[in-house]
Amino acid sequence: MKIQQRKRFTQALGAIGLAAAVTLTVGTQPVIAQNNAPDLAPMPDVKPGNAAMIELGKFFFFDSRLSGDWGVSCASCHDPKKGWGDGLALSAGYPSMEYFRNSPTVLNAKYRQRFLWDGRLDGSDAGTLVRDMLTEAHTMNMDGRLMQERLQQVPEYDALWKKWRKDDINGMRVFNVIGEFIRSLETTNAPFDKFAKGDSGAISSEAKDGYELFKGKAGCVSCHNGPIGSDGKLYNTGVPENPDVLKNPLRTITMLRHYATSGVPNYMNLRTDVGSYAITKKPKDIGKFQTAQLRDLKYTAPYMHNGMFKTLDEVVAFYNQGGGKGSVLKPLNLSASDQKALVAFLLTLSGDQVMVKDPGQPDMQVRTFGKN
Ligand code: HEC
Ligand code: HEC
Repeated sequence: MKIQQRKRFTQALGAIGLAAAVTLTVGTQPVIAQNNAPDLAPMPDVKPGNAAMIELGKFFFFDSRLSGDWGVSCASCHDPKKGWGDGLALSAGYPSMEYFRNSPTVLNAKYRQRFLWDGRLDGSDAGTLVRDMLTEAHTMNMDGRLMQERLQQVPEYDALWKKWRKDDINGMRVFNVIGEFIRSLETTNAPFDKFAKGDSGAISSEAKDGYELFKGKAGCVSCHNGPIGSDGKLYNTGVPENPDVLKNPLRTITMLRHYATSGVPNYMNLRTDVGSYAITKKPKDIGKFQTAQLRDLKYTAPYMHNGMFKTLDEVVAFYNQGGGKGSVLKPLNLSASDQKALVAFLLTLSGDQVMVKDPGQPDMQVRTFGKN
């Protein structure tokens, strides 16, 4: 997180009356309160980004020419109409590949401490995340230099770029331009935010009961806290494997390829999603995934890293039984109405549906010799 955001984060926590002694650390380090466990917080006030970059980034986000075979754009897997995910349990991946995890929402990327289900990238570096999405074989399979040449042949992109800076379209900067666009997408108008800022009628009394359980008996807040409901840490909650990963050889291949590129020893013996272990190689990290954010769940089913739960009722029932195999969770003994209240509360963290219209793909026109 940048200094500015960290400051605002502290203010946001302060605004709802939390312990003053909040320690905030840089980069992928989680936000930790020294005295109390942190609570959820309302979304910080929107601070507009660079308008010229955002405008350009919006075009690039929807443009399939940014993928190797022109087959997919970011929006294919992060579709505004599907909560900026794809609505599938497991991502289809780049044409001819199938992925072994769920495609998460890109909303609130600005407040993510880490990116990706296994938390392998630093949340303050959206440019690197975008580079991975563009160049990885399982997402867009694009060569950075080829992308730069393609984009330079689109006069409208050249003109938009010139509104931002004097030089020519440059591949590395394209990553940051798209990063700036996704960092502009955030949850707005969620009933919880109004409630946390003092409008006690903004959420139902059932949702209020759910909030008490969330902070109390159900213990959710110990991991789900801050403005997007994630402490940015990694845990094993024991979500069951999605059997489709092993039934579909294309998905198994993508998983094994991920292990091979990450340098996992004896990876051919692995047939489960080992989560953060593939990155750290520490046995204690087997099955650990990043705490998911809880914003806009209304639009982002199915849930978890492998889409194993279709509804929030199923998610809460899973927590109530103490999670799955190897989980750090304990059974909660919640009644049916407690569980309903928790779901009602979770839904108050969703805002208005964030819609951005696909601006279309401006035509290429091969530019005059010496001009590109
Ligand atoms: C073929 C599908 C696909 C395409 C195309 C794609 N993504 Fe993703 N995206 C995914 C999947 C799957 C993940 C999760 C991967 C994982 O955690 O292992 C992901 C993760 C992310 C995340 C991390 C969210 C979080 O909270 O951790 C962001 C942000 C993101 N993508 C943005 C983009 C952008 C920007 C583009 C275009 C440059 C893009 N994606 C293209 C499938 C896709
Ligand atoms: C020990 C830390 C921890 C606790 C306690 C915890 N969670 Fe989670 N939560 C996680 C992790 C980690 C994930 C991602 C797991 C995965 O994908 O395998 C997650 C995922 C979720 C998701 C899925 C979101 C999505 O977009 O897929 C929901 C909903 C959720 N938790 C709600 C709750 C509720 C409600 C409680 C309390 C009953 C709770 N959590 C308690 C760590 C925790």
